Amino acid sequence: MKRTKIVDALKSVDFNHDILVKGWVRSHRNSKAVDFIALNDGSTINNIQIVVDPTSMDAEALRSITTGACIGVTGTLVQSQGAGQSVEIQSKAIEIYGLCPSDYPMQKKGQSFEYMRKYAHLRLRTNTFGAVFRIRHNMAIAIHQYFHEHGYYYFHTPLITASDAEGAGEMFQVTTLDLSRTGKTGEVPYEKDFFGKKTSLTVSGQLEGELGATALGGIYTFGPTFRAENSNTPRHLAEFWMIEPEVAFLDKDELMDLEEDFIKFCVRWALEHCKDDLEFLNKMIDKNLLEMLQSVIKEDFVRLTYTEGIEILQAAVKNGKKFEFPVTEWGMDLSSEHERYLVEEHFKRPVIMTDYPSEIKAFYMKKNADGKTMQGTDVLFPRIGEIIGGSVREESYEKLVAEIKARGMAPESYSWYLDTRKYGSCPHAGFGLGFERLILFVTGMQNIRDVIPRSEER
Ligand code: 4AD
Ligand code: MG
Repeated sequence: MKRTKIVDALKSVDFNHDILVKGWVRSHRNSKAVDFIALNDGSTINNIQIVVDPTSMDAEALRSITTGACIGVTGTLVQSQGAGQSVEIQSKAIEIYGLCPSDYPMQKKGQSFEYMRKYAHLRLRTNTFGAVFRIRHNMAIAIHQYFHEHGYYYFHTPLITASDAEGAGEMFQVTTLDLSRTGKTGEVPYEKDFFGKKTSLTVSGQLEGELGATALGGIYTFGPTFRAENSNTPRHLAEFWMIEPEVAFLDKDELMDLEEDFIKFCVRWALEHCKDDLEFLNKMIDKNLLEMLQSVIKEDFVRLTYTEGIEILQAAVKNGKKFEFPVTEWGMDLSSEHERYLVEEHFKRPVIMTDYPSEIKAFYMKKNADGKTMQGTDVLFPRIGEIIGGSVREESYEKLVAEIKARGMAPESYSWYLDTRKYGSCPHAGFGLGFERLILFVTGMQNIRDVIPRSEER
């Protein structure tokens, strides 16, 4: 018999026929004359109830089906007598695929996330992580849907590169050399390395994205990026996924419109496509989740310059607001508590912050006429802080070369990139959305390590 997914069985009204379901046991209890097994196969947050007549099978085999075991059940789909579910299966035969010994780390309900992080390889079998990863999938689909519908091309940028896209020196090196065996001078002979030069994992696909945008008009990347930043926070990963649209002929206002429209589309998609999972997370993880998601799609984002933001923060400090990181003066970099104050306490809405001091941002951002600020457009979100980093790009060859030199970077490493400005340069803009930060926001989870399957994260 062909397997029926539990999501379909639960919706079925085709009663009194036999079906076959397969999955992992969430619980098994015995109540007088019958056994109840709650079975889940990952197709939905909801379990299907299996009703077993204990006389129908070997008593020891039935007892061995504990939480975590994997089984297949053939039985009759019937309308449920009990409260809490509309259909159930009256078991006729159970096949045991894998028993689950009593040291199964996911056995108990309500374990802390910290505990589950130690068993990240098994936590996918819990309700919460099932919900998170179904939502993660749906958000990936939303992203492709949005850009495809709006005429952007999905553009695959390289993961190994010799150019530091952010110029921040936070790259993981890729080499085939044995670095413990350098030459006599102590210098590493990179000319003998695989690519004949020093290479690393990419921190961003943007620079190659700009090659696409300045030829195809509008592209987006969606892939892994790597950062050797020493930020051990609940919002930073060493390996994360980024979505980076890059668009020719887009100005700053249009860029902000795109950021806002795109992120609202994703949140609306989650509300429409992940109803059961979001209701579960709203009940178990964050009682405010659904209300928060609704409010983000309803309200216009505040558009605020960095300078205005600093003034609001300074006024707050004057009125007694205490921050862990002091609000010093114009030119300081904002930390996530400052961003969250503006969003959560002051405006109570997402904020698009613009016109940052050039010095605290990347080399490729277009400067304003004042020579001090630039056309950046970061989106700041409740609970997250910065969720999107974006800007208009400097399109002048001379200005870009000057900026690269002024920052002590090597123009030779960017010669291919600079050619986009040398030959038929065009105004353009783009942004990067941290995928895991979006998932954090949509699921109500608190720690970015809890929205990835498993990793070597510290
Ligand atoms: O602000 P960032 O560094 O911008 C860029 O990389 C640009 N090249 C993007 C562009 O304009 N095309 O990173 C963009 C976003 C951040 O706003 C944040 O959401 C996420 O990527 N991000 C991280 N997410 C998880 N862990 C990290 N270590 C992250 N660093 C950045
Ligand atoms: Mg940023």
